[in-house]
Amino acid sequence: MQAYRAAILRFATDREPSRAAIYEQDGLLVVGANAQGRQVVQAVGPYRALRKRFADLAVTHWPDRIIAPGFVDLHSHYPQTNVIGSPAEGLLPWLEHYTFPEERRFASPDYSSEAAQFFIAELLRNGITTALTFATSHPASVQAFFTEAQKHCMRLITGLCLMDRHAPADAMNQAGVNGKHDATEQSLLDTEALIQQWHGIDRLGYAITPRFAPTSSAAQLRGAGELAARYPDVWIQSHVAENQAEIAWARQLFPASRSYLATYADFGLLRQRAIYAHCIHFDDADRALMQGTGAAAAVCPTSNLFLGSGFFDYAGADRVGFCYGLASDVGGGTSFSPFHTMLAAYYVAREGQTKTGLCLSPQQLWWQHTAGAAQALGLAGVVGNLQPGCEADFVVLNPQATPLLARKTALAANLDELLFSMIVLGDDRLVEQTVISQAIQPR
Ligand code: GUN
Ligand code: ZN
Repeated sequence: MQAYRAAILRFATDREPSRAAIYEQDGLLVVGANAQGRQVVQAVGPYRALRKRFADLAVTHWPDRIIAPGFVDLHSHYPQTNVIGSPAEGLLPWLEHYTFPEERRFASPDYSSEAAQFFIAELLRNGITTALTFATSHPASVQAFFTEAQKHCMRLITGLCLMDRHAPADAMNQAGVNGKHDATEQSLLDTEALIQQWHGIDRLGYAITPRFAPTSSAAQLRGAGELAARYPDVWIQSHVAENQAEIAWARQLFPASRSYLATYADFGLLRQRAIYAHCIHFDDADRALMQGTGAAAAVCPTSNLFLGSGFFDYAGADRVGFCYGLASDVGGGTSFSPFHTMLAAYYVAREGQTKTGLCLSPQQLWWQHTAGAAQALGLAGVVGNLQPGCEADFVVLNPQATPLLARKTALAANLDELLFSMIVLGDDRLVEQTVISQAIQPR
């Protein structure tokens, strides 16, 4: 067992709302293997209360530092690191001019490996310990990502991007080499083979990944839905209701469905463990469909502001009660930093506040990027928190990391002021260490 002494931030699980943060100014975090050999939190609380019980343990002391749950990024694209900051009129021209040309390169295993290494290093530098991320339509891109993720013992989820129409040929799924299977059939065979190879290995997970309805044929969406029914603990990830031109296109391609979101429901792609990025332009029937199926939204505020897509409606989501959490959406999103994402979420909620009076507290923002995002993934109590039993992935924050952070955090009179100072002024410099649960050794 290992013990760490510092200030500790975590979230309540035994009271409503569970988004409330618990903060020990002088805390102790005790980590040790559970029955499955996985490193989990064994005890957490005030140092003075736990000190005697763990008197035999050597304690790593980090004075003036804050231990907090590793961040959970609900949606990103590992192949889009080079696309960050590419300006376009909106989503569709951005895909055409920047994103598809870059994603074509991931047919190469070497290109994919280097990009996966860089991406995972950025996650760690920014304190993200769990991520759901797109690969490209090339199986090599998935193999490369899982191979790198496994070396880091991280809880990372990805999947082969399903895209069999309306994109450049070399960015899409390819027909099988023996000519027996067309691109659609081959993409579904590849998906199933990748599920069997990687899902549940160490802490890795597979996500069935139709890019969005406009780039999949009905046959591909149907096949994806069938796989989703056969593998219920595999995740699903896609995009929905991000941009008006995208919505018009999806409605034209699937006119029989009640709405763009309903298209996914009609193909069996809305269920628990289904994470839909954006979910901006919804009506209440869409919200009820999310709620009723247990699907969750990945809210991507830096991306939505950068691409001019719109503003996630927090009040609408809470009124109907569907699950959501925060996401970087790199490379439509502009930053890996959870602090930048939380700040952008705050701006977006402020925009909505003029209509509804709703305002996000710093504790709620932080929850949405940790325990709340974990809940959206169906991993509540597994990651995103530091309660006993949670996997011991955490960050060590240095509130003195910059002169301005030091000045401002020293003035904080309560927890909300402290958290807001870090959300507004923080970036990768605030993350002094990212500690990954180490029980699972790389092969
Ligand atoms: N919709 C379909 N593909 C994408 C993508 O790569 N990024 C974003 N933001 N939206 C999409
Ligand atoms: Zn995306």
